[in-house]
Amino acid sequence: MKAVLFLLSLSLIHSSKSECNLTPSEWCKTWDTAKACQVEEQCLEFYSRVTNTKSSSSTVQLELYYESLCGGCRDFLTGQLFPTWVMLNEILNVTLVPYGNAMEKNDSGKFEYQCQHGPEECLGNMMETCVTYYLKDITAYFPVVFCMEGAVNVTMALDACLTIYEPSLSSKKVMECVNGDLGKKLMHQNALKTDSLKPQHEFVPWIVFNGKHTEELQNRAQTALFNLVCDTYTGPKPDACLHKDGIPLKKDRLCLK
Ligand SMILES: *[C@@H]1O[C@H](CO)[C@@H](O)[C@H](O)[C@H]1NC(C)=O
Ligand SMILES: *[C@@H]1O[C@H](CO)[C@@H](O)[C@H](O)[C@H]1NC(C)=O
Ligand SMILES: *[C@@H]1O[C@H](CO)[C@@H](O)[C@H](O)[C@H]1NC(C)=O
Repeated sequence: MKAVLFLLSLSLIHSSKSECNLTPSEWCKTWDTAKACQVEEQCLEFYSRVTNTKSSSSTVQLELYYESLCGGCRDFLTGQLFPTWVMLNEILNVTLVPYGNAMEKNDSGKFEYQCQHGPEECLGNMMETCVTYYLKDITAYFPVVFCMEGAVNVTMALDACLTIYEPSLSSKKVMECVNGDLGKKLMHQNALKTDSLKPQHEFVPWIVFNGKHTEELQNRAQTALFNLVCDTYTGPKPDACLHKDGIPLKKDRLCLK
């Protein structure tokens, strides 16, 4: 929860007030507006409901297969998935699988990776994998991953993002994982998970929604995830779902294989 408060105040640092010709009740409805309007106090309650997803048969499951430097992945993760999860985490269980269009080679028992956007992308994937491994709880690691993916330089942002959101975990410890056998072992799990997708992924971000990937679900998730989650959830709707169009619509951007 603290992380999200930090997040909100940080993202408000670079704001312009041009979009704020709205009534106060409108300000917190969309992520972009809240960011633009410097309405920390008003929106804190709205944006700080981060709890652990409660297990129930109707919990909406979303798996994101992505790679750290793909523009479309970064757009989706920062513009749709994270803000939707912040508001709907009670009913939305997110699984992040950083690997995407990478390739794995078994070099006599040692795994080596090649990534679509080069070694720096492999490094970003590995950093996020190790952060996830150490922090375990999504309410701890998702803000860090969000912060990195939203930064100008993803890999360089590791240290700053940890300092802001999870100072208990040092970047030194993360880098030991990244550069050691542990990182490779963890990345192998991501490779297995990605390679066993059915149907196989054709591009990233590749979204598996409630265990299924279809073109329609992918398109709806990429353009209006918030509404998709609210519409899909069959339990009693959380308050946030009453604010439809909670997250502004986004155009698709993909990284083809
Ligand atoms: C969330 O997804 C993971 C698998 O990715 C699963 O193990 C876990 O049980 C799910 N949790 C809930 C609350 O649905
Ligand atoms: C990787 O290669 C080694 C031998 O080169 C083999 O023993 C091992 O089973 C392979 N691992 C996997 C997961 O394919
Ligand atoms: C990010 O920063 C690192 C370290 O300074 C640098 O090597 C890399 O080229 C930068 N990446 C981008 C995409 O600018």
